[in-house]
Amino acid sequence: MNLLVTGGCGFIGSNFVRYWLEHHPEDQVLVYDKLTYAGRRENLADLWEDPQLSLVVGDIGDQALVRQTCLTQATDLIVNFAAETHVDQSILGPLVFTDTNIRGTHVLLEVARELGIRLHHISTDEVYGHIRDDHQSVETDELAPRSPYAASKAAADQLVQAYAITYGIPVTITRGANNVGPYQYPEKAVPLFSTNAILGEPLPVYGDGQQMRDYAHVYDHCTGIEAVLLRGEIGQVYNVGTGREMTNLEMVDIVLQTLGKEQSLIRHVLDRPGHDRRYSMNVDKLRALGWEPRYEPRQAVAEAVRWYQDNQDWWAPIRSGEFRDYYEKQYAERLAGLQG
Ligand code: NAD
Ligand code: DAU
Repeated sequence: MNLLVTGGCGFIGSNFVRYWLEHHPEDQVLVYDKLTYAGRRENLADLWEDPQLSLVVGDIGDQALVRQTCLTQATDLIVNFAAETHVDQSILGPLVFTDTNIRGTHVLLEVARELGIRLHHISTDEVYGHIRDDHQSVETDELAPRSPYAASKAAADQLVQAYAITYGIPVTITRGANNVGPYQYPEKAVPLFSTNAILGEPLPVYGDGQQMRDYAHVYDHCTGIEAVLLRGEIGQVYNVGTGREMTNLEMVDIVLQTLGKEQSLIRHVLDRPGHDRRYSMNVDKLRALGWEPRYEPRQAVAEAVRWYQDNQDWWAPIRSGEFRDYYEKQYAERLAGLQG
């Protein structure tokens, strides 16, 4: 099978490419990636020599290039990881989220429709909005996104479903929980807190830190996507997570304990605007395909933290480069307590 993996140089995409080549060595994987700040060739540094893997640098919004790439590769399946993915960045500068997450997905759908290619779209639990205490989201729940990022992902999901209904194209969608693991850009909470703690810098916890997330290991996301690609029903949506949540303060505690660092590094700072209090998904539909997560949330976080401890060569150049400008904009006033 020939897979076009968009966003394959990002966090989850690169873990998926690595997983897929190991478990399906007969398949051809073509990574199509714009190489934004979050997309890094070095995430797959050890694999570029593999004749089964290749890279096209391009934007998913470039219809001519996507089309030509699919024709050249004779693509059987597009797996769409490409996206702008950070909620805080979507609050600072939302329009690129519309361009990539909505229009970019729409372009992929157009090419898939024209060339008769199956499309698997990677979505998120954030499309369900924040979830009341007595509920776990199921795939048929209404979408109620609350950030520019989540709204752009929800719009993309609806386009994918509309194309399936209108044109009958073969699509599937997975909605993932908060992933942790190797190669996650350090703007996200677990790598940010891990690398800050290693550097002895404060950990900026938004608000009271009682927000709840299902911290799932990226490995389990990859096996969940694989289960849907191999055994999922065309046209269906599947939630992927552990089905269990913890508070952000519990997650921070695991980070600090794993690194042997003091609680005094914790700083409660001005909350994220519109911060969703709780995400929680029911994953029974995916389990019915024979999938089970390998990692408990606590193990997943601890294992991710250890990766950042052992892989400073990967994150140190990122943290000392363009990331500093973003960090300054997002955290300087918060950490100085000047946020009003
Ligand atoms: P990431 O930010 O680490 O990587 C995104 C990748 O997409 C990068 O390689 C980037 O270069 C590429 N990209 C961005 N815009 C592009 C464009 N216009 N054209 C081509 N490539 C482009 O993201 P991630 O955390 O790996 O997330 C991957 C997917 O999974 C996204 O769709 C995201 O919404 C979804 N998701 C993420 C999580 C999570 O916890 N990280 C959870 C659930 C779902
Ligand atoms: O739930 C799936 C989503 O998980 C994905 O769709 C997104 O792409 C991914 O970025 C992630 O979104 P979150 O906003 O939940 O993840 P983030 O790592 O940014 O934050 C996790 C929690 O930690 C959240 O409640 C906000 C909080 N947080 C985050 C940062 C960056 C802090 O308290 N302080 C911080 O500095």
